[in-house]
Amino acid sequence: MTLGEIAEQARTNLSLNLWDYLRGGADSESSVVRNRMALSSLAFRPKILNDVSTIRKERTLLGHKLRIPVILPPIGSIQQFHEGGGASVAEAASEFGTMMILSSSCQPGFEEVAPVGDCGKVFQLYLVGDEAWMDDIIERTIVAGYDAFCLTVDTSLYSRRERDIHKRYVPGSGRVATSGTDFLAQARMNWDTVAHIKEKFDIPLILKGVARADDAMRAVDAGVDIVYTSNHGGRQLDHARGCIEVLPEIVAAVDGRAPVIVDGGFLRGADVVKGLCLGATAVGAGRLLALSMAARGPAGVVRALEILEQEIHLTMGLMGISDVDDLTPDLVERVALLPGRHDMMSAFPLLEEGY
Ligand SMILES: Cc1cc2nc3c(=O)[nH]c(=O)nc-3n(C[C@H](O)[C@H](O)[C@H](O)COP(=O)(O)O)c2cc1C
Repeated sequence: MTLGEIAEQARTNLSLNLWDYLRGGADSESSVVRNRMALSSLAFRPKILNDVSTIRKERTLLGHKLRIPVILPPIGSIQQFHEGGGASVAEAASEFGTMMILSSSCQPGFEEVAPVGDCGKVFQLYLVGDEAWMDDIIERTIVAGYDAFCLTVDTSLYSRRERDIHKRYVPGSGRVATSGTDFLAQARMNWDTVAHIKEKFDIPLILKGVARADDAMRAVDAGVDIVYTSNHGGRQLDHARGCIEVLPEIVAAVDGRAPVIVDGGFLRGADVVKGLCLGATAVGAGRLLALSMAARGPAGVVRALEILEQEIHLTMGLMGISDVDDLTPDLVERVALLPGRHDMMSAFPLLEEGY
């Protein structure tokens, strides 16, 4: 089976509203396209005559072994793609052997998901209350046994997703583009919030949505435990840079002081390998998670991760690399862009040819 078939099954299973919610981005969707363009304009510089009869692909993050350096990012309203929602993500992550980040914007809630499976778990919170409200939730996150707490910092305002607006579709979170009051606490979030959390709580903190070197440096200086570079899958700021383009400056700024996660457009094993070459500790597969969940629930997610693993294995082997820690920046080079489309489905060209 191919990842393209899984994407096609998701398209068949979902209503147009949900399909567009899944694949869409903000405004002109240039950030969605640029994520894929940035990946497509990198080519490999393979090595030859290295023994690749065994290939080590595991990594460790927050004390948990990742079977491949791919994690499952937070997906709001994932219960609309499959009724098990966040609990199904925990099941899939546990069965395959990876980590998940649960969105506060999905069902069931973090306390219900906490005991499901045995995978590493992070809770990502959108701030919709005051500091006392946030503190209470962080305390409960710790009590529930989460491995880390995550703030998404690229979402100070909720963007205009025109596929949704055009159809007057309101996503499951109930959020629509607004400069309004429901997201005020999220809009007010600042570096003091980070300092407050680091001072008061003993749980690793992840900042998701770091997009420039100076912020990455400041985050690590402030004690942030994992720097997560992302443009929210192109769903927030329009005309952002492609995430893999941003990655090298983040990795240089962090300078080994914290793990770096990257996401944005990573849909195939070769995409993941490119991220690892440029210094990511792990790659987040957001839409791939949503697609495979919509295709066949947790079993679909496990199958997608297995195929991704196979693709990573083949890419590394054909590049002459037998250990994930030997993936280095000299193995990729920026080249002329591939012709054609660069949206989400461009990762699965057979679908466009009517297979
Ligand atoms: C349907 C959907 C819902 C999302 N919801 C959230 C969310 O609740 N919190 C968050 O931090 N990021 C959210 N994201 C962003 C993802 O966590 C991730 O950054 C993004 O999907 C990565 O890009 P990719 O989809 O191209 O892999 C969402 C993404 C999608 C596609």
